[in-house]
Amino acid sequence: MSASRSLVIAPSLLAADFARLGEEVAAIERAGADWLHLDIMDGHFVPNISFGPAVVKALRPHSKLFFDVHLMISPVDLYIQPFADAGADLIALHVEAGPHLHRSLQLIKSLGKQAGVVLNPATPPESIAHVLDLIDLVLVMTVNPGFGGQKFIAGQLPKIAQLRQMIDQSGHGIRLEIDGGITPATAGAVVAAGADTLVAGTAVFAAADYAAAISDIRKAAR
Ligand code: DX5
Ligand code: ZN
Repeated sequence: MSASRSLVIAPSLLAADFARLGEEVAAIERAGADWLHLDIMDGHFVPNISFGPAVVKALRPHSKLFFDVHLMISPVDLYIQPFADAGADLIALHVEAGPHLHRSLQLIKSLGKQAGVVLNPATPPESIAHVLDLIDLVLVMTVNPGFGGQKFIAGQLPKIAQLRQMIDQSGHGIRLEIDGGITPATAGAVVAAGADTLVAGTAVFAAADYAAAISDIRKAAR
């Protein structure tokens, strides 16, 4: 990774203890997390339901962390404003989440938020070629979305490398985030392929020591 791009570790709240969300967010902030990744699942776009804007809003005053909100919702447009109002710093949506990706991204930017696009394992890198001027982040799924604790799909590594090239050629300062199955065993390969931002759910929140878990991922990424 070049010196200009610092590594961001974004623990996913999906793997936290939902009965103690406020404490979990405080603990992960103390443990050295850079961002908080918030997985929003609608039971339609993905076969699971997590939590909505009211939970994001309730957590917002308790944390200074950058809120990286991953919307797994379709159709998504109706929910962009509620998550912006709830305190998201970045809102990422899937290429398949609505009929007009460009328009949805324009809406996120018009609300003063950073915008991200998410690629499912089967979604090609070319699908974002004409929105690079509108986005702050590309998120590559290295599992099929819907659940934490799944196995990392190594077949996504060439796609990560291809997106790194597209981003560098675009000249836009777009972050390249990876989500799914990130552990100290997989972090090195994704960063070598060009990633600069790593989501980790189970690998952090299932650990007894959150700070050690984050630091193990950081070390593996070097
Ligand atoms: C899956 C979510 C992920 C999930 C990752 O749909 O987008 O953010 O929490 O969990 P792990 O790190 O356990 O694979
Ligand atoms: Zn996610």
